[in-house]
Amino acid sequence: MKHTINEGLFQTLAKEIEILKRDRKAVILAHYYQRPEVQDIADFVGDSLQLSQKAAMTDAEVIVFCGVHFMAESAAILSPDKVVLLPEMKAGCPMADMVDAEGLRAYKKRVPGVQVVCYVNTSAEVKAESDICCTSSNAVKVLQSLEGKDILFIPDENLGRYAANILERPIEFWPGYCKTHDRLTKEDILKARKAHPSAKVIVHPECREEICQEADYIGSTAGLISYAQNSENQEFIVGTESGILHRLHQVCPDKEFYLASERLVCPNMKMTTLAQVRDALQTLSPRVTVKEEIRVRAKQALDRMLAL
Ligand code: 13P
Ligand code: SF4
Repeated sequence: MKHTINEGLFQTLAKEIEILKRDRKAVILAHYYQRPEVQDIADFVGDSLQLSQKAAMTDAEVIVFCGVHFMAESAAILSPDKVVLLPEMKAGCPMADMVDAEGLRAYKKRVPGVQVVCYVNTSAEVKAESDICCTSSNAVKVLQSLEGKDILFIPDENLGRYAANILERPIEFWPGYCKTHDRLTKEDILKARKAHPSAKVIVHPECREEICQEADYIGSTAGLISYAQNSENQEFIVGTESGILHRLHQVCPDKEFYLASERLVCPNMKMTTLAQVRDALQTLSPRVTVKEEIRVRAKQALDRMLAL
């Protein structure tokens, strides 16, 4: 995929960022949904699980997180001694905002002893109220690790149901969803299949159940990329956020990828620009921090996941 800025400007900003990054002893982490030029200057591009593992392990002094707020917050929870920067503070996740700590506490009061599995797409306060975290790549494994019968999955109902169906386990779901993946309809998939009959349909588990039922493969962003890489198929209909096409074209230059719908664009993931990455490194702001009392409790849920 092409950069969204001209090549001259990209080269200038990339050079400035490289120099500042060395001066600041910084590492730049980016999600697969970021703009192509942001992915291209990052030290590491990955899915949510890989990014939190990197944030926990890095020996850099500064982490520049090119993603959305909960991702930078997870890095701050795992690495409290590091400076964690989110170049665009307004980049949030509407799904993460669909559950708050107060609502979750009320649920726990109604169902004493319930075990709460929280998708990493949640605030630190919500993680602090949860037993264990998960991402789209390990939700099944996380649920499998739990004994007992009262389990609540928050906030993504689609991911929760996908994992529960695989395990054939009764689980309660929070009525949350990703506003971007929700825009994909069954009609979009049927239309794309008609246009590209040889293509495999690969989708993210944040898609609605009726979409997952149509898919040849369901997986996290990293899962979708490795499926395309290892598949003998030449064509793929892609049911996740558009940013992933950049990496898919890089790792499979001879294969064809068709975005299942032009509406698969997350506005929050597209907010961060290269100029903002440069400015963040220059000013060491905006910085994401988490109150110590919340951080310690939220870290338990993340650590439990990372230990699996
Ligand atoms: P993964 O990269 O873990 O698949 O997550 C997708 C997502 O929606 C991040 O916001
Ligand atoms: Fe949130 Fe969906 Fe955007 Fe991911 S793609 S940040 S889940 S709204």
